[in-house]
Amino acid sequence: MFKRVSGTKDILSKEEITAWLKIEAEARRVFSLYNYQEIRTPILEELALFNRSLGVSTEIVQKQMFVIKTKEDEYVLRPEGTASVVRAYLENNLDKTSGFSKFYYTGAMFRFERPQKGRLRQFHHLGCEVIGSLDPAVDVELISLADYLLKSLPAKEEGYKIKLNSLGCQKDKDGLAKELRKILKGHLSKVCADCKKRFKTNVFRILDCKNDACKEVVSSLGVSDSHLCPECREHFDKVRAGLKLLNIEYEFSPTLVRGLDYYTRTVFEITHPVLGAQDALCAGGRYDNLVKELGGPDLGAIGFAFGMERLVLVREQRTEDRGQNLAYLITLGEEAKNQGLKLLDNLRKSGIQADTDYENKSLKAALRRANGLGALKVLILGEDELKNNVVTLKDMASGDQREVKQEDLI
Ligand code: HAM
Repeated sequence: MFKRVSGTKDILSKEEITAWLKIEAEARRVFSLYNYQEIRTPILEELALFNRSLGVSTEIVQKQMFVIKTKEDEYVLRPEGTASVVRAYLENNLDKTSGFSKFYYTGAMFRFERPQKGRLRQFHHLGCEVIGSLDPAVDVELISLADYLLKSLPAKEEGYKIKLNSLGCQKDKDGLAKELRKILKGHLSKVCADCKKRFKTNVFRILDCKNDACKEVVSSLGVSDSHLCPECREHFDKVRAGLKLLNIEYEFSPTLVRGLDYYTRTVFEITHPVLGAQDALCAGGRYDNLVKELGGPDLGAIGFAFGMERLVLVREQRTEDRGQNLAYLITLGEEAKNQGLKLLDNLRKSGIQADTDYENKSLKAALRRANGLGALKVLILGEDELKNNVVTLKDMASGDQREVKQEDLI
């Protein structure tokens, strides 16, 4: 027997696939309300695109890329969508034709992680990217869109939390990194082995290390947003004021730094308690230098991505997830089976979801199957029904049963 590759998942139960479809449909509705357009980029990209975008010292580039080598080239199964969207935006000259653009996407992403609960090697993003503006109102729109999407799913009652911070511009980030190194130097003996390395390569990541000892050190540092220059401070104040205006609750979280190098200014993360240790449901922020870094003009940009598998876990299950409007036909005898084929065809072509039993089960077993499928109604066609040109119609919720003329059925 073949097995699926470690860290991948089959999505096949009725409940699960329904949840995926409902989330995708709701997301498309919400993105359309905010006037975002879908973009589909390839799964295969050049390795160099991510080295350049995410930063060579980041965990993804260092350890998690699925690289495919051919004789001439090095490709990668994309680990995220932002770099691909910016690549597509520039390659298709949208900076010269469309300018300001708002995209959304869904699709598989690949990271070579140690598989564990909530961490897969193939997972899916539901994300968006807005390219071409530095306006803090865009940050507000994006966060309010994410918030509205979670309210419309809806997310489970325990509640999600939006955490917000500003890293500032590259100069502010450099200043913060320097300051952090200065104050962390005296605490290095207390942090974990990974953070000892991070001190040199990516000092920000010490701030969101999950290790208890590191957390204690970080909480004693009194990190705030005092490193922001006046322009970045004003930008952040406007984002916060906009969120207040729209009544969006969030928590200012000065140690929120994110694991990718491209972020500048606004960063945010949405967590949900039902997710346990891997509680990040959505993450995003500004990447105002990336378009230029990839060879384009100096354009502001911002985006986010939800983890689809995690969205499925936080979505409140609905009773209508099980039963659809399924009409399940049970025929008894050869003659009824033939007539049934016609009836089934009519039902479907009249827009009614319909199915039948192709395994010649007994009436009892077929009813059990209809129940298992969550059918709304069962139609029974036996010898008596055929004789009288009727169908017995059974309502599965109430158990009520009555005869209906075949021509009145639809
Ligand atoms: P990210 O934080 O790496 O951000 O991923 C976003 C979300 O994807 C996470 O919050 C989590 O829900 C989900 N996720 C990440 N890795 C895994 C995994 N191994 N298994 C299951 N779910 C996972 C980005 O990728 C950025 N591109 C987001 C962004 C868009 N920033 C700006 N625009």
